[in-house]
Formats: sequence, C-alpha cells, structure tokens
Amino acid sequence: MEGIFMKGIILHGGAGTRLRPLTFSGPKQLIPVANKPISQYVLEDLRDSGIREIAIILGNIYPEKVINHYGDGSRFGVKITYIHQGEPKGIAHAVGLCKEFVAGDDFIVYLGDNLIQHGIKKYLDEFQNGEYDGYILLKEVEDPTRFGVAKFDEGGNLIDVIEKPKQPPSNYAVIGIYFFKPVVFDVIKELKPSWRGEYEITDTIRLMMQKGYKVGYSIIDGWWFDTGKKDDILQVNSIILDERIKREIKGETINSRIDGRVTIGEGSKIINSTVRGPCIIGRNCIIEDSYIGPYTSIGDNTRIIRSSIEFSIVLEKVTIEGIDRLEESLIGENAKLIKASKRNAIKLNIGDYSEVIL
Ligand code: DAU
Repeated sequence: MEGIFMKGIILHGGAGTRLRPLTFSGPKQLIPVANKPISQYVLEDLRDSGIREIAIILGNIYPEKVINHYGDGSRFGVKITYIHQGEPKGIAHAVGLCKEFVAGDDFIVYLGDNLIQHGIKKYLDEFQNGEYDGYILLKEVEDPTRFGVAKFDEGGNLIDVIEKPKQPPSNYAVIGIYFFKPVVFDVIKELKPSWRGEYEITDTIRLMMQKGYKVGYSIIDGWWFDTGKKDDILQVNSIILDERIKREIKGETINSRIDGRVTIGEGSKIINSTVRGPCIIGRNCIIEDSYIGPYTSIGDNTRIIRSSIEFSIVLEKVTIEGIDRLEESLIGENAKLIKASKRNAIKLNIGDYSEVIL
C-alpha cells in the first residue's frame, strides 16, 4: 500500500502502576495478547491505514525493550523515530515533544494500550475530509469516571471534554486516539498541569475549542479497550483469539486431542493432552498430561505438565507443574508454579505487588 502524508505517534511511556508486578520488568504496552505485544496492534493499525512514519514515545520502564522489539521499524514496514519522555508528565506533554518529528504534517496520537475493533482508517478519512484541526473518537461506556468524558450542548454539539469527572456530563468516553493539525503545538504551549500534575490531552482539546479551532468527533462502532488493568487484558486476549486465531499446527502432537481453532508454534510438543481453541501456544513449548482450555495464550519456551488452564495469558519461559485448575490468570516471564507435594503447605517466592488467590 502507498503511504500517506500523515504521521503517527505511539505513546509507550507511563507509570504502569495498575499492572504491577508485570510492569517491574517492562512497559505495559509490551504485554502480549494472543502472543503479540499490545502496542504492535497499534503500530499495525497505523501502518494498515497508510501511515509510514511513526514516533514512539519512550518512558522510564525498560525503554530498551521497546527499541529491541521494534528496531528501526523495517520489520513492520514503517520508519520509527524514538523520542524519550522519561517521567510521565502527561499525554499532552508527550505530544509536545514531537513538533520536530511532525514537521508541519497532520498526525495521529495513538495511546499504546488502546485497541479498537475495526481500526482507524475510516476515522482518518473523516478527519481529512472534514478539514478539522482536531478530531476525537468517543464510545458509550457504563462507567465514564475512569476516562476523559465528552460534554454536549442541547443541540448535540460537542462543547467540552473533562478528565475523569466525578459527575460525568455524558456516558461518552474519549478514546485514546486523537487526530491533529500542527496548530495543536501552539495550544499545548499554553497548558498548565492539572490536579493530578499532568499536561492533559483533554485540556488541550478544550482549549482548542475555546480558541475557535474546529474539533470534530465520531462515535465508534465495535469494541474499544483501554488495557490498563489485568481483567481488561484477559478480555482483549479472549476477543482477539476469538476473532483472529486460525487452526495452524506446526508443532508435534503425540496422543493428544486438538479441538477447534488452535495455533501451535514450531518446535512445540503436545503430549497426552487436550487443547481446546481458540487458543495459541508459542514455539518450543512442552505441554504434557495437561488440559489447555479456550481463551488461553501461551508464550514461547513454556512447560505445562500435569496441569489445566483456561482463560489466561502465560508469558515466555514459564513452568507450570501439577496445578489443577488455573483460570483468569496473567503469569509473567520465567515464573514457576509448581505443586510440590500432597501436603497442604504453600511455599512462595513471589515479587512485590504479586497477587496469589487460592
Ligand atoms: O484510554 C483512554 C483514556 O486515556 C482517555 O479517556 C483519557 O482522557 C486520557 O487521559 C487517558 O487516560 P488514562 O488515565 O488511562 O491514561 P494513562 O495514564 O493510562 O496513559 C495512557 C497511555 O499513554 C498509556 O499507554 C501510557 C501513555 N503515557 C501516559 C502518560 C501520562 C505516556 O506515554 N506518557 C505520559 O506522560
């Protein structure tokens, strides 16, 4: 596909406190769903909409892991520029660092932990055709207090956006995907930090409207997730496995039953086990005397022996042995879960902020 003259910015910084302990060893946007980092879905959405030049904003949590994964972008068919933000001083602060990169073009800001079902292409066209200075996407949600929220006048015109209001003026949350013309940089310069000490993108949009710039919006079709918490990640994992996983078995299966849409990577061995899709098992895994249930993603080089697991994400190089029924779990790299004996004693060696529910 030909590229278009628009640029993309992926926010890959932030504090990641709600996803500890996984974010002690990497940024939250690199947590895989269906064995692919969340931010890679974001990058691929930008690329598939014709964007070829992308800046990735790096924070303080192992930024080198982001650079290792994406490199110069050529593996993904794009050109990547890395911009270091360090401390998370706000989405508008991160955008403000990109003036030189944007160099007068129109651009999209895409939070690296936001995913939408049908991609951005349709909205990108609406932004360009409507000659807007700013364009936001909205989705009706049950509890808008976690998000930026749109306020409309009686005629249904957008008149304000308010960050995490205690009394939301509507049920329409502002999604973390924003389209801008470069005038936004002049507006960002005038911002003051909010009550939570951040330069807010919602304040930026409000100020744009107050200054008479043309800000449009669209209410999106299909699902949207802000994958800020474990349960959201598990839910997105299920949905993506359901929508995208095909039956593709490259590994070896011995005396095992593989039902439905299951992907098994090269070098993996499934022995005396049942695997029920939708489900993905990475490369060089060993699954023995076990049951892998639906909505489960298992990373490369993982061993699961005499265990059963479903509706979960297991990262790379994990060992699970003798665990009878594991579900709704998110298990980080190199973790070991072993039932050692029949005694009832529980022996733990777990990191800060770990959660064990027995
Ligand atoms: O998900 C949509 C919501 O995202 C919007 O409804 C809100 O208006 C918007 O403020 C934002 O709210 P959050 O509180 O969820 O933002 P969070 O701090 O989680 O950061 C969003 C993403 O941007 C996340 O991937 C981390 C990254 N980030 C965040 C900040 C504050 C940065 O890269 N740098 C930053 O300084």
